[in-house]
Amino acid sequence: MASNPLEWLLIKSNLIARPVLDTQVGGTYVQVIMAAVKVGLFDAVAAGPATAEKIAADCGTHPASTAKLLPSLVASGYLRASGDQYELTKLSRKWLVTTSPHAVNDKLLLQFYELGLMQRADEYLRSGKPLDFHTGMTDDVWDSYQRGMKALTHGQTGMVAKAVPVPEGATDLLDIGGSHGAYSVALCRRHPSLRAVVLDLPDAVRHAAPLLAEDGMGDRVRHQAGNALTDDFGEECYDAVIIIGVAHHFSDAQNRELTAKVARALRPGGVYTIAEFPASKGQGKAQQLAALRDFYFALASESGTWSPSRMAAWQRAAGLKPAKPVRLAASGGLNLQSGIKSR
Ligand SMILES: C[S@@+](CC[C@H](N)C(=O)[O-])C[C@H]1O[C@@H](n2cnc3c(N)ncnc32)[C@H](O)[C@@H]1O
Repeated sequence: MASNPLEWLLIKSNLIARPVLDTQVGGTYVQVIMAAVKVGLFDAVAAGPATAEKIAADCGTHPASTAKLLPSLVASGYLRASGDQYELTKLSRKWLVTTSPHAVNDKLLLQFYELGLMQRADEYLRSGKPLDFHTGMTDDVWDSYQRGMKALTHGQTGMVAKAVPVPEGATDLLDIGGSHGAYSVALCRRHPSLRAVVLDLPDAVRHAAPLLAEDGMGDRVRHQAGNALTDDFGEECYDAVIIIGVAHHFSDAQNRELTAKVARALRPGGVYTIAEFPASKGQGKAQQLAALRDFYFALASESGTWSPSRMAAWQRAAGLKPAKPVRLAASGGLNLQSGIKSR
């Protein structure tokens, strides 16, 4: 947060009010980047250096307010200024231009909804009642949600597909809360005999269907609209079941019941792989990301992040044999916990 050694020293010595920096400056920082994405500012600059007036004209924004915004994007490393011209930096070119394969613009658009939930943190603190992330979303939010989730998979589906154990000769995969289906697509490409069912909520499927279609897998990867908490998955009909970044939406009891249903649906020798963000380990500065993520998931969903040992406990209780957990660099650290059904 400090922009020069003196500020750093003042913060370090507890002589200036860091809470104001953390919240007002931090909050403004967040909104400046998100607003720039929402009005298409980085796309407007993508064609080459442009003046504030030109950027405002291309974005359909007010010239005076656009001129006020641009220096904060320069100071934050998202734009570079040269005279009265602004251009992209490596950071914005990679992540915030919609034509980039790495673009996370849709995830930032979803964050308008997520920050709206976060503004109700005091309500959650008082009541202890999580706000249900999946109810109350408009059509636009569902769209950003599904697109944003797909955006976050870029560059890591191969790594995840390599790490998910699939039994030799497997033919059927169930992808619980699979959204866009990108992980199923990667697994089916890696295992030619495999076909996949991507189960997700009806609203999700409506918005994720065009995203899955982009991958051109035809019938090999198909959506199924439903609810993983209430649907029956059948008996001995899948060789592999995956659930990636979904268990944090479910409570301990729900995850236990779900794992029991999955165990029943697996064929002998089948594998259930749960992938989740790391849970925080103890206290301290190094845990900031994990602890904040855990609080966010607790507020916005049913539970929070889960440790591999807890995921293994669900598998053990369901009669599966937990394997050693695997930690991937994907998503800034993703834990994979697989449980195997005996033959
Ligand atoms: C955080 S996203 C993860 C999507 C995908 N697995 C990935 O890793 O990119 C969670 C997904 O779980 C779905 N979901 C949430 N509750 C569900 C339920 N009860 N049954 C089926 N899907 C559910 C959401 O609609 C959403 O698509």
